Amino acid sequence: MYVLGIETSCDETGIAIYHSEKGLISHLLHSQAEMHSEYGGVVPELASRDHVRRLVPLIRQSLRDSGLQSSAIDGIAYTAGPGLIGALLVGAATARSLAWTWSIPAIAVHHMEGHLLAPMLEANAPAFPFVALLISGGHTLLVRVDGIGCYQLLGESLDDAAGEAFDKTAKMLGLGYPGGPLLARLAEQGSAGAYQFPRPMTNRPGLDFSFSGLKTFTMNTLASSGKTAQDKADIAHAFQQAVAETIGIKCRRALQQTGLQRLLVAGGVSANRQIRETLTAMTGQMRAEIFFPRLEFCTDNGAMIAYAGCQRFLAGQRENLEIVARPRWPLAELPGIAVAATTSS
Ligand code: KG4
Ligand code: ZN
Repeated sequence: MYVLGIETSCDETGIAIYHSEKGLISHLLHSQAEMHSEYGGVVPELASRDHVRRLVPLIRQSLRDSGLQSSAIDGIAYTAGPGLIGALLVGAATARSLAWTWSIPAIAVHHMEGHLLAPMLEANAPAFPFVALLISGGHTLLVRVDGIGCYQLLGESLDDAAGEAFDKTAKMLGLGYPGGPLLARLAEQGSAGAYQFPRPMTNRPGLDFSFSGLKTFTMNTLASSGKTAQDKADIAHAFQQAVAETIGIKCRRALQQTGLQRLLVAGGVSANRQIRETLTAMTGQMRAEIFFPRLEFCTDNGAMIAYAGCQRFLAGQRENLEIVARPRWPLAELPGIAVAATTSS
């Protein structure tokens, strides 16, 4: 079956067409980052208006690029939450209207399930069960995954999400928006060991995270000694290393606690090279396997939504004509689907 995926939860308009047997057929992305950078962060009303402008032309282009007529599409998957309510409503209303017009089903997809399943678009997708670390701008979650929709929350951030901490710290360092990739670039100029940042919540048991203290630590360090460009690069380096090692310690603990040997890492921050290297070294030491999405599918995209929706359609899930948009939506509320074909012990 051909599934059209629509992602509009924040500042990226993502469109994709995924086929249940042929795989990913097309994916297009329009990023609003430049538009929001002027304001130092996402302006929700501007985001909604831009989704309105971009969606239909991108869907048309995606069909054209794929050489498909609209009549070939068997179902539409759209991000229904969590995210910005106005932005979500644009995608949800468009998806539902097209599904009604084309007489096909539409399905509401959880944005974080989309991220979680993004590595499944790769040739070496992990088998279930595994531990998933989801690190994005809005969430930091450690989840035990026994199948699609079978999610047990192991730990989460008690304050800022990892991406949020990157973005806020980048702002303090005078970098633009979105700050995560810019901070990562600055950190490459920094020297290891110039500053020592704490590894929050690692000296007590548990799998929860807290990143807001690192932000304050950065602010104080900048105030006392962050004068030169090199100081700033050194501080960026120390911050990034602290986040990477903290995440590494928690992931190691999650694998030990669950007895699982597979770690999947996804969400925007999983594009970070230092974090990838730290986690790859850690899983290597544990003789565990590690899985990431390709770089372009770490951040928001339509492909992960089309994939997630396709799996749910294949499992027979259908919804009524309601337009679903949920700014807050716990991952654990999702219904599970049978995964016998891909489960390994
Ligand atoms: O998953 P995502 O695209 O959107 C949400 O669902 O939130 O994640 C966006 C977040 C932003 O905070 C961005 O700064 C961060 O991911 N990010 C990075 C990198 N690339 C994106 N953070 C650190 N290093 C990167 N290379
Ligand atoms: Zn996201």
